[in-house]
Amino acid sequence: MARLLLPLLLFSPTVFAAITVVYAPGQAPLGTATGSASAAAYSGSAAYNPTVLNAPPIPNPPPPSNFNVSLITGGTPGASIVQSGDFVGFSVEMSVSNQVLGKNSTNIQVPFLNLMASIVQRAGSVRLRVGGNSQESATLVPSIPDGKILTKNLTGVTGTTATPPLEYSADLFYMMANISTMTNVRWFLGIPWFVTTPFDLSIVGSAQVILGDTLIGYQAANEPDLYNNHGHRAASYGPFDYYGEFSDCISQLASDGVDPTGKAATLLMGPSVADGNWSPEMVWDTGFVDTYSNNLAFLTVEKYPTDNCAAQFNTGGPIIDPQTVFPDFLNHTAHTALLAPYLNSTAFAQSKNKKLLMFETNTASCGGFAGISDSFGAALWGLDYSLQMAHSNFSGALFHVGGQNVFYNPFTPPPTNQSSFHQWTIGPIFYSALVMAEAIGPSNTTQVLDLQVNGNNEFTPGYAIYENGDPARVALFNYVTDPSGASDVTAVISVAQPNGGGSSTPSSVQVKYLSAASVSQKGNITWAGQTYGSIFESDGRLTGSEDVKTVQCDTTAQTCSVTVPAPGFALVFLKSQDDTAGAPSKTFATTALTKTANTATIAATVLATSNGHGGPGDPLNENSELGSTSKGSTNGAEGLRPATLLLTAALLVGAMFVGRR
Ligand SMILES: *[C@@H]1O[C@H](CO)[C@@H](O)[C@H](O)[C@H]1NC(C)=O
Ligand SMILES: *[C@@H]1O[C@H](CO)[C@@H](O)[C@H](O)[C@H]1NC(C)=O
Ligand SMILES: *[C@@H]1O[C@H](CO)[C@@H](O)[C@H](O)[C@H]1NC(C)=O
Ligand SMILES: *[C@@H]1O[C@H](CO)[C@@H](O)[C@H](O)[C@H]1NC(C)=O
Ligand SMILES: *[C@@H]1O[C@H](CO)[C@@H](O)[C@H](O)[C@H]1NC(C)=O
Ligand SMILES: *[C@@H]1O[C@H](CO)[C@@H](O)[C@H](O)[C@H]1NC(C)=O
Ligand SMILES: *[C@@H]1O[C@H](CO)[C@@H](O)[C@H](O)[C@H]1NC(C)=O
Ligand SMILES: *[C@@H]1O[C@H](CO)[C@@H](O)[C@H](O)[C@H]1NC(C)=O
Ligand SMILES: *[C@@H]1O[C@H](CO)[C@@H](O)[C@H](O)[C@H]1NC(C)=O
Ligand SMILES: *[C@@H]1O[C@H](CO)[C@@H](O)[C@H](O)[C@H]1NC(C)=O
Repeated sequence: MARLLLPLLLFSPTVFAAITVVYAPGQAPLGTATGSASAAAYSGSAAYNPTVLNAPPIPNPPPPSNFNVSLITGGTPGASIVQSGDFVGFSVEMSVSNQVLGKNSTNIQVPFLNLMASIVQRAGSVRLRVGGNSQESATLVPSIPDGKILTKNLTGVTGTTATPPLEYSADLFYMMANISTMTNVRWFLGIPWFVTTPFDLSIVGSAQVILGDTLIGYQAANEPDLYNNHGHRAASYGPFDYYGEFSDCISQLASDGVDPTGKAATLLMGPSVADGNWSPEMVWDTGFVDTYSNNLAFLTVEKYPTDNCAAQFNTGGPIIDPQTVFPDFLNHTAHTALLAPYLNSTAFAQSKNKKLLMFETNTASCGGFAGISDSFGAALWGLDYSLQMAHSNFSGALFHVGGQNVFYNPFTPPPTNQSSFHQWTIGPIFYSALVMAEAIGPSNTTQVLDLQVNGNNEFTPGYAIYENGDPARVALFNYVTDPSGASDVTAVISVAQPNGGGSSTPSSVQVKYLSAASVSQKGNITWAGQTYGSIFESDGRLTGSEDVKTVQCDTTAQTCSVTVPAPGFALVFLKSQDDTAGAPSKTFATTALTKTANTATIAATVLATSNGHGGPGDPLNENSELGSTSKGSTNGAEGLRPATLLLTAALLVGAMFVGRR
């Protein structure tokens, strides 16, 4: 898209001349931002927080720099259950669905469509949940003025996560249905569970008809083990009470007439415990899965490794310093330790012929951490975590998407007031999802195995990815940041037939890298050379040309040596990388947008504002009346808008359907 910008500016020389570049408060170009000073003064939305941490020091002792990866064809003991390419999906907080998905059924966000289409192209489909804390008190209303699908009732907001009660219209479901006609998105919703006598099941009556087969599950209670802590149930509330409520819900689905075909009653999901007061086993041991086997489409749990609630909501608890905990997100042991308590449940699920989903997760609840959740380190964290969940026999994971006030979003639309001149911000977790879609692929025969490579060194994990029992891809990580190159590691990969049957090592392999200069880097992450850029820069499509490396193997030693930079991730394709194409490449035209401007890539360097630092028109403050390019810019971007955007739209129509991924 940057290519398109140049001719535009040439067409508007006077506009170009008038531009003065002023960065938003604390928003120096990345790389020059040194963290604390500018970040401390920052008062804008968390989603654009400029804090850059220091990468943790090189471990002592450093990981060995060379290790063998010896793979066998024809099935490998210990590999996971068969996984699907839509393993990683997204959990969109219901209260922000009108910002992320679209305004309404006739006004869908094109960047969102492009992002989903890029997962579908690799995986065949993508799963999204619309729900979260805000589903619990959401009420379906016949209509909302001004073509809106959601309104928040700000009266009497309570609770740690301060989620306002919602009113929504059925047009939310029409919007979701329209999205599914354009790209293969399948949906999860949630039944409000705070009030059970009776349940409000209007969501089922409406969504089931409108969404049809694209609706694949209804969450029955969100984190019921925390209901008591948040004042929604008495202290005595336990797994058997939940078991009883589940039964009540099934009875009421039948008696209310909202589920005439009986389909919805087969799509329930639970128990979604959040590792608060109940272990999953406490629920399994009630007989939940046997009793409701015909009703349960999936089993679900939710888990965040830690939380940032003290800082975000002044809970009075100890405030966690992101710099101190950054190393906790940059090692493999973090994932094996987090998931160990669930291995009994994934085995239990298999024994009951059920799939267990990690229904909501991310770096830290209550919004994540500045400098961690939005750094390249989080991309490595999210990818290793996802592969470890696949290895551990989970059947999918949904990464949570909040509003402007969180650090961990996989993708963030610009604040409404800025949608005419800012584009979307793609976070590191979206890169994790994209790479995971490609790593698993669309074959439906994929298995994942944690190889415990390099002596199981926690800074350089590696996985084998099998298709039809044969090694197809190898996933290799290096969590260390060391620009000197001394901490790069080299995996020496070989493939053999079982029982000494000779070598199946290919003569060459293709490698795609997920890259950034440091684990602390924000924005400009690249996947095989392509990127979504920095904050406010993406229309949901990767930019730049794809760079797939070919590594010639040593045909004498029958080994392929692949180097993983510090930091970095490599996906090694033992067969052709085109094996992973899930669906034809698709991008979307501008017509569904709120404003055509949204599709233009306007880099920070051509955005001008004379409001400067901390003025009334704080460009990062959603509530600010003044956009960053409006008031007082004599002949700046305000003037740039009408002239360039018409032109941009015209150019884009031509450009829209080119590009390979
Ligand atoms: C991102 O990369 C582009 C292109 O290489 C560069 O111009 C820009 O300065 C980078 N932005 C940041 C914030 O690092
Ligand atoms: C890798 O395998 C080769 C050949 O089997 C062996 O000579 C070498 O010692 C191994 N390297 C490591 C680090 O284990
Ligand atoms: C969607 O919202 C726009 C205004 O933003 C309105 O013109 C349009 O009619 C709405 N669509 C529906 C289906 O309500
Ligand atoms: C908003 O919430 C308050 C407090 O829960 C409630 O009394 C009121 O009826 C709600 N208003 C609407 C319009 O739903
Ligand atoms: C989306 O849904 C609306 C119903 O409000 C329908 O009229 C419209 O044609 C659909 N739009 C697309 C692009 O499918
Ligand atoms: C595993 O889960 C089952 C089902 O809840 C339970 O009966 C069993 O005790 C658990 N085993 C362990 C080791 O926790
Ligand atoms: C790895 O992460 C875990 C928790 O996520 C942490 O307890 C441990 O200290 C970390 N290891 C290192 C070497 O930093
Ligand atoms: C995953 O399931 C497979 C098949 O049942 C089993 O062999 C493997 O040990 C399981 N993996 C883990 C980490 O529990
Ligand atoms: C994989 O499974 C999905 C969902 O069941 C199905 O739609 C798709 O066609 C399958 N893909 C292949 C290659 O069999
Ligand atoms: C911008 O935000 C302000 C404050 O929330 C609001 O009054 C105004 O209507 C918004 N403008 C637009 C174009 O959304």
